[in-house]
Amino acid sequence: MSSDLFKFKFTPDAKPAVEGSARISDTPQLVFTDQAFRDLREHIYNRCGIYFNEGKKYLLEGRIAKRIAANNLRTFEQYLNLLKSTNSRDELNAFFEAITINETYFFRAEQQFDAFEKTLIPEIIKNKQTLGGGNTFRIWSAASSTGEEPYTLAMMILERVKPLFPHINFQILGSDINNAVLDSARKGIYKEYAIRNVPPVYMKKYFKAVGNTYVLSDEIKRMVRFTNINLYDQSQMRAVSGCDVIFCCNVLIYFDIPSKSQVVSYLYDALNRGGYLMIGYSESLHGVSKAFKLIHLPKALAYKKE
Ligand SMILES: C[S@@+](CC[C@H](N)C(=O)[O-])C[C@H]1O[C@@H](n2cnc3c(N)ncnc32)[C@H](O)[C@@H]1O
Repeated sequence: MSSDLFKFKFTPDAKPAVEGSARISDTPQLVFTDQAFRDLREHIYNRCGIYFNEGKKYLLEGRIAKRIAANNLRTFEQYLNLLKSTNSRDELNAFFEAITINETYFFRAEQQFDAFEKTLIPEIIKNKQTLGGGNTFRIWSAASSTGEEPYTLAMMILERVKPLFPHINFQILGSDINNAVLDSARKGIYKEYAIRNVPPVYMKKYFKAVGNTYVLSDEIKRMVRFTNINLYDQSQMRAVSGCDVIFCCNVLIYFDIPSKSQVVSYLYDALNRGGYLMIGYSESLHGVSKAFKLIHLPKALAYKKE
């Protein structure tokens, strides 16, 4: 199976909206009624599977208030109408940017990466060799935010895996719903917070300090391709196939059980037989999917497509 997305040519996505000088205080009469909250929540859910429970009403209020001000609107109802009627990619991008949480950093899930390197990669390559599965190894970081996760994988592969398997062609795809984080990932410029876990040997080899930033080397940047994919959008999800390992970490936590099940079934379809799905430490597929076999690796869990 092949996937054109791993081969796509880089074409920059639309730029996020410029917010101008509008401020929340420009709309002092803004009232977020329970009805407006429920309507907006339903719209967000239908668009991207993210579910805002009652406890997150105030978070949503603050974030959407900024979009209302930026569009010179006066109410949440008006903004919802705008979302329903607009074809503006810029506003949709700004909206996704407003409702997503993009926290990430390099070497975030060290034990998981370790198990991936030492157990999963050798096992999958061995199977490929036995079953005539070709020399391509596809890895998809399916909610990659600003790129730290797929770039960590790229560094580990270049440093520790490639010397053992020089004939294997590793392809890494990073995707997210938020174009602003994808733009940032492509630039590969990071602050102290993002690099705080990077081992010194990788720091020395693959980052250059420039002012108070750390610039990732082109060698690593070239190993990852980034594109916009909404995990909840079936047609976009169908564009990826033939993956050996998918990392979909720290994003399912924002979904409810039905939307998680939906997304996980798309991820299942995108995997090769014998491939693995990795999710965040605090996440589980319990009650979400029975399609995978739960595998206990040293200090990490993985979900296998048998
Ligand atoms: C907390 S970050 C996780 C980053 C990285 N995977 C990690 O574990 O460090 C969650 C990311 O999921 C993305 N996201 C949320 N909903 C999404 C959706 N429906 N489709 C694709 N990406 C989504 C957000 O934009 C955000 O960048």
